[in-house]
Amino acid sequence: MQETKPTRLIVGITGATGTIFGVRLLQMLHGSGVETHLVMSKWAARTLTHETPYTLKEVQALATHSYGLGDQGAAISSGSFITLGMVIAPCSMRTLAAIAHGLGDNLIHRAADVVLKERRRLVLVVRESPFNEIHLENMLKLSRMGVVILPPLPAFYNQPQNLDDMINHIAMRIIDQFDIHLDVMNRWDGMLLSERQNRTEEE
Ligand SMILES: Cc1cc2nc3c(=O)[nH]c(=O)nc-3n(C[C@H](O)[C@H](O)[C@H](O)COP(=O)(O)O)c2cc1C
Repeated sequence: MQETKPTRLIVGITGATGTIFGVRLLQMLHGSGVETHLVMSKWAARTLTHETPYTLKEVQALATHSYGLGDQGAAISSGSFITLGMVIAPCSMRTLAAIAHGLGDNLIHRAADVVLKERRRLVLVVRESPFNEIHLENMLKLSRMGVVILPPLPAFYNQPQNLDDMINHIAMRIIDQFDIHLDVMNRWDGMLLSERQNRTEEE
């Protein structure tokens, strides 16, 4: 019998500000050999339109498979569908609360619940500021269960030149959590470098 190595990652995008983080993850993983299984909430679709130039269809096309929010019969609703785990980027406080309390009333909550019961990796790119005690308690509860709470905070030691640099660095750190170490910084640095060169030539 052949051993099957999971290279599937579930990607949830919810209605917190910072939809670009979910989009950038999909862009980076596209063509990497990692299968992405995408579910977006209703409010994720709304913030996507509000905050980015991308359409819902364009984002869904970046994923290997895309599911409807109410599709509880989807493959990712079952633990027998082997995955590396799930990332929710960005993760709203509503979705955080639903996961912390085991609600399974949409496919994002259900897939996260399955990842927890199967003891797979769950990474929540939580976004709210400031946090209230409910948010903090929910995060602590999940962190104690091994969930990675990863707010999308920028670093400055890598001397980001623009917002894209910051987004790419955060997206790369999220992907690192799944032991997927893509050569993304080089790739994106290359693009950014050429963009900078073009800009210099234009000036
Ligand atoms: C433009 C916009 C930005 C929002 N930003 C946040 C946020 O940063 N964090 C958050 O928890 N909710 C935020 N919300 C509210 C959520 O969208 C709302 O609570 C929603 O019910 C979340 O549902 P979901 O988790 O199913 O996507 C925002 C809503 C809008 C319209």
